[in-house]
Amino acid sequence: MDPLHVIALDRDLHPELLKRIIPDGHPLTDWPTEPPTPPTIELAAAARAVADSILREPGYAVVDTQAAELTDTELVSAAWNLFTVLCVPVPQYLTGELIYPVEVTAATGPGISHYSTSNAAGGFHTDGTMLDQPPAVAALLCVSPADEGGETLLMDGLRLISDLTPEHRLALTRPFWFHSGDPGSPLRHQPILNGTELRYLRRYIEEGHRQAGAELSTTALDALDRLSELPDRQRPVPLRRAQVLLWDNTRFIHGRRPFTENTSRRRLRRMYGTPRDLSV
Ligand SMILES: [Fe+2]
Repeated sequence: MDPLHVIALDRDLHPELLKRIIPDGHPLTDWPTEPPTPPTIELAAAARAVADSILREPGYAVVDTQAAELTDTELVSAAWNLFTVLCVPVPQYLTGELIYPVEVTAATGPGISHYSTSNAAGGFHTDGTMLDQPPAVAALLCVSPADEGGETLLMDGLRLISDLTPEHRLALTRPFWFHSGDPGSPLRHQPILNGTELRYLRRYIEEGHRQAGAELSTTALDALDRLSELPDRQRPVPLRRAQVLLWDNTRFIHGRRPFTENTSRRRLRRMYGTPRDLSV
């Protein structure tokens, strides 16, 4: 497997990224969506390199902000400010949150997170399957990692799709019912595969069919799950504090490895966005 694609941010960019501090407790629906100031040539160039990695190859980037020594508030603000240079942030839920803390405790079992062990398919998914349009770019900032494990797993949809049989590929282009299972949330009818774009979350599809009273043929889903469970299809991404993973969310499906939290909790901040035009 290719080495992890890490882009180290120049520390000289820190003052620019710290021009706007978003205070703790600021409403998650109200984070600023524009960059703090028009980006300098240096910051725009750094953002372009990240965008090229996400939108071309390898389809993702780990940005090491080199800012682990900042306070949590400063770190989250700097990462958000960088993200607003790269993307127009978009809401993550129908309730409009623009940034979201991902802090699922591992305390549901003997140090193992419930979600990561919840089903054999590993819960691999696309983010934002219930939005009109899943976000083009998804990002996770690491504020602190778990003591062990918790790596994000990225599975390249382009490869998964090309390895499916034509019958399974065709089956995934037909509409499936999706429902999150939350009371009052919508029932959507949409394809899993649209061109090369994936929109996948098996649990929502099973729930959607149950709610619609429709029979679900799982043959093609099983084939997709089997491929994405192959270790050589999985790119594990371990994140340290102050690193941000960004990826093409309609290309990759993703999940995470189980983790243990003893002295350190796995604390991430999630962001979704539409890439800006950074061409000069
Ligand atoms: Fe996710």
